[in-house]
Amino acid sequence: EEHIAGAKGSPGAGSPLRIFSQAKKKINEIFAELDSQVKESTSFLQRISSGIIPVDLNLVEDVQKRHGKIRGISEMVKRDHMKVVFFGRTSNGKSTVINAMLRDRILPSGIGHTTNCFIQVEGTDDVEGYAMKEGSTERYGIKSVTSLSHALSGEHLSEESLVRLAWPKSKCFLLREDVVLVDSPGIDVTPDTDTWIDKYCLDADVFVLVANAESTLMQAEKNFFHKVASKLSKPNVFILNNRWDASANEPEYMEEVRQQHLARNLEFLNKELAGISREQALERVYFVSAKEVLLTYQKREKGEPVNPGMFPEGYLMRMQDFETFERKFQETLSESAVRTKFEHHTTQGKEIVKGMRSLLETVFDTASTLRNTQGDEKRRQESVLQMKSTHYQSLKNEYKEKVDGLCRKAAEEIVRGFKE
Ligand code: GTP
Ligand code: MG
Repeated sequence: EEHIAGAKGSPGAGSPLRIFSQAKKKINEIFAELDSQVKESTSFLQRISSGIIPVDLNLVEDVQKRHGKIRGISEMVKRDHMKVVFFGRTSNGKSTVINAMLRDRILPSGIGHTTNCFIQVEGTDDVEGYAMKEGSTERYGIKSVTSLSHALSGEHLSEESLVRLAWPKSKCFLLREDVVLVDSPGIDVTPDTDTWIDKYCLDADVFVLVANAESTLMQAEKNFFHKVASKLSKPNVFILNNRWDASANEPEYMEEVRQQHLARNLEFLNKELAGISREQALERVYFVSAKEVLLTYQKREKGEPVNPGMFPEGYLMRMQDFETFERKFQETLSESAVRTKFEHHTTQGKEIVKGMRSLLETVFDTASTLRNTQGDEKRRQESVLQMKSTHYQSLKNEYKEKVDGLCRKAAEEIVRGFKE
């Protein structure tokens, strides 16, 4: 495992995301232990209920039910992951941001309305990627971005339908750490986003709003998150003001525009969504260029040098902002996922243990009472025996005395007979 995810120098080594995988491993172990304990208790109860102690059969059934529950939770824990969903208007660069985070051009991106349904990117242990359409088990082998485009074209996919893209974990550390990234069609392509929220957002740990730094935050984008916040208390929202490289074209307005965006973003996160403080909100807003980040990361992966001179002015600052975003994003994602996903399992686990304990205590009490009554009976029998044996002893003595007397008498008579 170290070999895959935690090798020194790999991006995953010091990542806060590891907290999630470590917690998941621990919880898995605890539930495996619980599983064997309950299994043992079940066979114990079955054994004693067949004669030794009169155990209520409902209790045995109860334990079996708990066993089933533990199995269910263990399965759920195995499937638990950290989920991040990306939203924003068409062409703001959602797919490019995800590609940058995956370190390669995996999702189709381009001018115009490109992403026409939800795409969920998740890790696979297979060496090659594949895509699966919602409700089908047919796998489309994916080697490159063009093969994904082919798999997605052809039959019509509705906007709210989902394509799952399983991508080799070996190629991306986010996927290795159980992160699932969901790309969406532009928020402006449909007026009905309620279904989207119900289908894809209720179990999301983090939302990334990919905004366009060349325009202002749109009402459609804000409304969407208002709806999200009405269904999910305090959603974790990050805002990426993307295409910030375009600001280099007008350097004289750059700082002014940045302050304007920042003020509006903070107002939205802190006052409108009212989920977080202004200080926290400051850590949720970034000015980036996903296109540059993707190019840079692709070069880095190949071990090629990156020349900042080939990018518009301010490149290093935009890169730095993206790296800070990634770090903060990982912290929030891991923290939220551990809290929301595992807290529930832990509470359920505790309930089961509490129930098992009281159940076994009942059996113990029954056994103790039985032992006490059996002890009483034993003592009674012992005293009867004692009494009987004293009685016999005294009878024996009496008898002995009588026999002795008789013998003495007989002997005396015999002696007398001889004399006579
Ligand atoms: P839809 O899927 O259609 O909703 O769009 P999207 O939000 O996924 O945008 P996508 O990633 O496809 O990007 C749209 C276009 O913008 C592509 O041509 C990208 O190369 C370009 N692009 C993305 N990010 C940036 C950026 O930071 N700067 C610049 N200059 N171009 C960008
Ligand atoms: Mg897209």
